[in-house]
Amino acid sequence: MKRIIAGNWKMNLGPNQARVFLSELTKQDLSKKAEWVVFPPFVSLAETQKALTGTSISWGAQNAYPAEKGAFTGEVAVPMLIDLGCRYLLIGHSERRQFFGETNDSCALKVQTAQAFGLIPMLCVGETLAQRDSNATQEVVTEQLEKGLSEAHKDKPLTIAYEPVWAIGTGKVATPEQAQSVHLAIRKVLERLLGPAKAKETAILYGGSVKADNAAELAKQADINGFLVGGASLEPKSFAQIGSVPL
Ligand code: 13P
Repeated sequence: MKRIIAGNWKMNLGPNQARVFLSELTKQDLSKKAEWVVFPPFVSLAETQKALTGTSISWGAQNAYPAEKGAFTGEVAVPMLIDLGCRYLLIGHSERRQFFGETNDSCALKVQTAQAFGLIPMLCVGETLAQRDSNATQEVVTEQLEKGLSEAHKDKPLTIAYEPVWAIGTGKVATPEQAQSVHLAIRKVLERLLGPAKAKETAILYGGSVKADNAAELAKQADINGFLVGGASLEPKSFAQIGSVPL
C-alpha cells in the first residue's frame, strides 16, 4: 500500500502563516512513494484548499462534529469540510481525549459520520506512560479500536494512527520494536473487527516525536505504513525530509 506521511499542525499556522508554509512545502521534493497530507486548523483550510488544489498533497481537518448540520454553536460539520476539499478527518487525537473530553463513544460517532459523507477517518489510539508501565498497552489500544470502530463501515476507507501518549511532543520516540509490536497487534484487532482483507489494506501510521533521523528505522517495520507528524511537520524542509527515507 502507498505510505501516508501526514502533518498534524495542531493549533499552529493561521491562514497567513499557512499560505507561506504551503508555498514552501509545494517547492520541496516530496517523495512520490508516499501520499502527503496536512491537517491545518479549521481557519486555515480555505487557504489550504487554494494552495493545494491541483497538487498531489491532500488535506484534512483535526476534528468535526458528528451531525450533518444544525444547532451546535461553535462546531464544524463534515459536509462543510468536504466543501473545503478535505479528504481525511483526524479522530480521537490524544490531546482531544485529554483536554476536550473525547471518548471512544464520541470517536465511534465521528468515524461513522466521516465515512457516511465520504471523509477518510484517521482514528488515533495510544496508551499513556502509566498504562504502558502497567503492561496495559494492548488492552487500552484494543478497547480504543473496538469501541472507536464499532460503527465503522468495512467497505469504506479508514486509517489508524498509533500515537503513544508518552511519545507525543516529548522527543521520546517509541523504538522500532515497540512500535512494530503494537502495530501488529492493531492489525490483528482490525482483522477480527473488519476482516483480513480490510486489515491488510488499512494504513496504520505511527506518531510521536517522528523526525527525519528516526523515521528510517521505523519505516522498515512491516506494519508501519506511514507517519503522523506533529512538531517536525511545522517546518517544510524537516517535514519533506521525513519522506526522503527509503519507503
Ligand atoms: P510530535 O511529532 O510533536 O510528537 O506530535 C505527534 C502528534 O501528536 C501528531 O498527531
